Amino acid sequence: MGSFYQRDRAWHPPAFTPQYKTSVLRSPQHALLSMEGTVSEMTGPRFGHGQLGPLDNDLIHNFSRDGEPIGQRIIVHGRILDENGRPVPGALLEFWQANAGGRYRHKREAYLAPLDPNFGGCGRTITDDDGRYWFRTIRPGAYPWPNGVNDWRPAHIHFSIFGHAFTQRLITQMYFEGDPMIWQCPIVSTIPDRAAAEQLIAALDRNNTLPMDALAYKFDIVLRGRRSTLFENRMEGN
Ligand SMILES: [Fe+2]
Repeated sequence: MGSFYQRDRAWHPPAFTPQYKTSVLRSPQHALLSMEGTVSEMTGPRFGHGQLGPLDNDLIHNFSRDGEPIGQRIIVHGRILDENGRPVPGALLEFWQANAGGRYRHKREAYLAPLDPNFGGCGRTITDDDGRYWFRTIRPGAYPWPNGVNDWRPAHIHFSIFGHAFTQRLITQMYFEGDPMIWQCPIVSTIPDRAAAEQLIAALDRNNTLPMDALAYKFDIVLRGRRSTLFENRMEGN
């Protein structure tokens, strides 16, 4: 069984980042311990396409009641790769987002922007044999949040990804190319390296735009890589 590369802690944001207020209580209070990976970390659940509904990757229709949601229609697509550049087929992606006005459908949501009766704001899909995924949605709005006196989140979509092992689990957010709010965001600013933050920005992808229908954004995601191991006389993955 191969083991995985260590998480690059210079690339990912540190856990304790006081400008992002709720990180203070959520971050570890003691030094981290390094532990040997066991079968619990090296394996994960497998998902089949039969478990998904036909509208699960269509946020324009999956919760609509009497029409389509208000907002800019977009396609989001990309590939899930590991750190060796290999595609990750069969990965489960779950995504959730605010509506076009920046409002979540959640009982603890307090922003005054209105709910959209035709927009739920969550969906899921599974990558194909080449690690590709896509879904249809509307572009979310920016919203204010109680952190500093006047902090706003840039437009973003939340992602959860299950790869082939629990060590590959990734929770992240996608931003939109050209949005000036990105560089004012206290959460984005917890990422130490600007190049790392730029990897969270989906590029406007004119080639995959649907004419007279939807703009497209491309967002590739990298999960932790498995160290190469000898497997039946050959290098795994070759
Ligand atoms: Fe959010």
